[in-house]
Amino acid sequence: MARCLAFGFPPPTDSRTIQKRVPLVKEVYAKLTRPDIAAIALTGIGGAGKSTLAALVYHYAEAQRLADKGPFTAQTLWLTVNESVTLADMVGTILEVLGKPQLDLGRLVPHSQALALFNALNTVEQPRLVILDQFENLLDWQTGHALPDRPGVGEWLDAINSQPCACRILLTSRPWPQGTREYPPTYLQEYSVEGLDITEGIDLLQKQGVTAPERDLRTTVERCSGHAFALTLLAS
Ligand SMILES: Nc1ncnc2c1ncn2[C@@H]1O[C@H](COP(=O)(O)OP(=O)(O)O)[C@@H](O)[C@H]1O
Ligand SMILES: [Mg+2]
Repeated sequence: MARCLAFGFPPPTDSRTIQKRVPLVKEVYAKLTRPDIAAIALTGIGGAGKSTLAALVYHYAEAQRLADKGPFTAQTLWLTVNESVTLADMVGTILEVLGKPQLDLGRLVPHSQALALFNALNTVEQPRLVILDQFENLLDWQTGHALPDRPGVGEWLDAINSQPCACRILLTSRPWPQGTREYPPTYLQEYSVEGLDITEGIDLLQKQGVTAPERDLRTTVERCSGHAFALTLLAS
């Protein structure tokens, strides 16, 4: 069965165009490695830089792993959630990557699929970071609840919010993802992605070839609150 969950590539992070946001990257990585956190959702408006920040975390986590540092010993997994992904696609793809036997997903109710996914990520010999980019495609953008035609997604969010997990999950999502129950963020925590700081914003404009007095560049960055994509568009 063809699955809709793509093994995508992280977006570009080359320093000729992308600000490295090192303190943020280290902060997100440090949170992800805490024992009392299973998952982080990078949230924020479109173009804020969520996917790019996730890509920077991806490379940082891989550098740590290759230097035998940190808790992750298996390769970071980057998955791009497109508009038609279902929980069954996620379960199938992740079981495959983790080398676990496939389940007869058609026979499992969504709640059991959600538990199967959680258990697969929690029972690994080699913990890894799993990044699900564009997770908002599974959600209602107004409420953050799973779309009605994506059964089990809310239950999976409940599961990752309620207990520790051997693997860690990094989501990017416009809205804050909501499970089916009104529990406070516990093992699933939100990290709101804000704009670039003034120095980064000015550097972005200069690297795109904008030549103007620093005072004017500063005003430009302030006016769009450091919004990464807005600055990129302005400079082009
Ligand atoms: N750290 C960054 N440095 C420079 N440009 C960035 C950075 N983050 C994002 N951008 C620009 O903004 C665009 C949108 O970023 P993206 O990460 O896709 O946003 P989101 O996932 O929040 O919608 C990128 O294609 C890039 O041009
Ligand atoms: Mg994105």
